[in-house]
Amino acid sequence: MKSVVVLGVTGSVAAYRACDVARELMRNGFEVRACLSRSAAEFVTPALFEALTGKPVLTDVFDEPVKGRMAHIDWARDARVLLVCPATANAIAVLASGASEDMFTTIAQASRAPMIMAPAMNPDMYSSIPNQENLAKLRDRGAVVVEPLEGEVACGEQGQGKLASVGAIVAAVLEAGYRSNLMAGRRIVITAGPTRELIDPVRFISNRSSGKMGYELARAALQMGASVALISGPVALTAPAGAELVRVTSAQEMKDAVLTAIQNADLLIGAAAVADYRAVAVAPEKIKKSGDMQLRLIENPDILSESHRARPELPIVGFAAETTDHERGAKDKIDKKGLFAIAMNDVSRRDIGFDANENELVLYFADGEVTLIQKSSKFNVAVAMLERIATRLSW
Ligand code: C5P
Repeated sequence: MKSVVVLGVTGSVAAYRACDVARELMRNGFEVRACLSRSAAEFVTPALFEALTGKPVLTDVFDEPVKGRMAHIDWARDARVLLVCPATANAIAVLASGASEDMFTTIAQASRAPMIMAPAMNPDMYSSIPNQENLAKLRDRGAVVVEPLEGEVACGEQGQGKLASVGAIVAAVLEAGYRSNLMAGRRIVITAGPTRELIDPVRFISNRSSGKMGYELARAALQMGASVALISGPVALTAPAGAELVRVTSAQEMKDAVLTAIQNADLLIGAAAVADYRAVAVAPEKIKKSGDMQLRLIENPDILSESHRARPELPIVGFAAETTDHERGAKDKIDKKGLFAIAMNDVSRRDIGFDANENELVLYFADGEVTLIQKSSKFNVAVAMLERIATRLSW
């Protein structure tokens, strides 16, 4: 099957230029399926796009080109890339808010495919604070915005608002299409969140970890076409659709789940904050308070080291949360745990890591390569990290 681009055309004067974009995408081997918003259909007709693409065009949420099949789900699943071209301020607002008011926005809600936005509108609308905030929200979730150009727009005013060139839009789709296939056929095992080591039925030892980085890695790997086993300690997050979620509590349980999951895996990523120690014995009843007490702890198994021992050829990527001497700490862990690479988080910074929604990482590879993954949303950091790892693995 050809790679499908679901093209959302929204109501800007530039709607006619979506025809050239559709043709150029088809010349590049994509199948283009168009959805027109009601206002787009005031500028261009469904018949025009049907003739150009050779595919049914959807305008209404209840359109059903294949009888008995829900088109919004079928198209959402078939899409390799979603493209909004041109994207009006309203379409951007609806997509940023997660609402669905027509066929395209409904498909976008149901799809895991990456989204490209090509805005076209009056310069004041484009630079308005709500529009810029909406675009920032979409970028944080991984959408790529092909910036409009400066010039004279349809209403006669000057400024940034003209639809980007066909070449720039097609290039962005090609890049997203390449990325969303980078891990096709690969199985990735990801650990996430903290572990909990019981002391008694109501108390435990744990680590600071929200699990966000691991969950975003899972979402990014799925978007790149991988199948994902997400082995998660207790967190307050919803697993991304399509991930095979294995819930665990203790480090021992996490280790068992990982050793099973990696048997047919192509990559293991350890993003979990595993508790280093557990109680020698878990008290069967709640321990009564009676002055100072001593707790005897023993060291937990190192999950990544054991995975390396079980499958020495499996590439393993770890995380290191350091506050000082980052490079030494990272390199020591590569050697000690038999890693392919390690992602270093500077946890002394408050703006990134732990509970934050953003992160910045330095990726150290065993062969000495050092790559900075610039500060961005954890999802975008996950995409950049996986892209580099996949490239280094020659996938
Ligand atoms: O040794 P340290 O805990 O700093 O190493 C962090 C990396 O090792 C992380 O990738 C973490 O998921 C992994 N780890 C593990 N098992 C442990 C401790 C850490 O897999 N017992």
